[in-house]
Amino acid sequence: MKNKGLAAVIVIVLVLAVIVGAMALGNDDNPADNMSEMETSQTENTPAVQENSSQPATVSSQANAVEVEIKDSAYTPATIKVKAGTTVTWTNRDSIKHDVTADDKSDDAPMSELLAGGESYSFTFNKTGTYTYHCTPHSFMKGTVIVE
Ligand code: CO
Repeated sequence: MKNKGLAAVIVIVLVLAVIVGAMALGNDDNPADNMSEMETSQTENTPAVQENSSQPATVSSQANAVEVEIKDSAYTPATIKVKAGTTVTWTNRDSIKHDVTADDKSDDAPMSELLAGGESYSFTFNKTGTYTYHCTPHSFMKGTVIVE
């Protein structure tokens, strides 16, 4: 009976050893989990960095006239918020030609000719709404005028 009791204790100890071993193996997996968590947080951080280094957020203006520069093949500010009746003037500061073409080509939306370096185009926004526009030769150039 004593031997059986001892055998039972040994079995229990072995089972516990296996369980502890399994837990240790489980802990070995944790560094991988931590790495994937780090990758996730890095991915989450990336947009914030891009926000800081790219164009600023929407620029609001109460002025009757607002200037947008076309420089380095980009509209700056890319997004402006103005009141109805505001005249927006785009000036091309690049040596290559750009234009201002509304995505929705209605009569009440901006539509310029190709602007050479130093040339400007003005449009008065009388109707409220969100006007998205682009550059015809460079479709990656995008801008927005929000009229309130
Ligand atoms: Co362009």
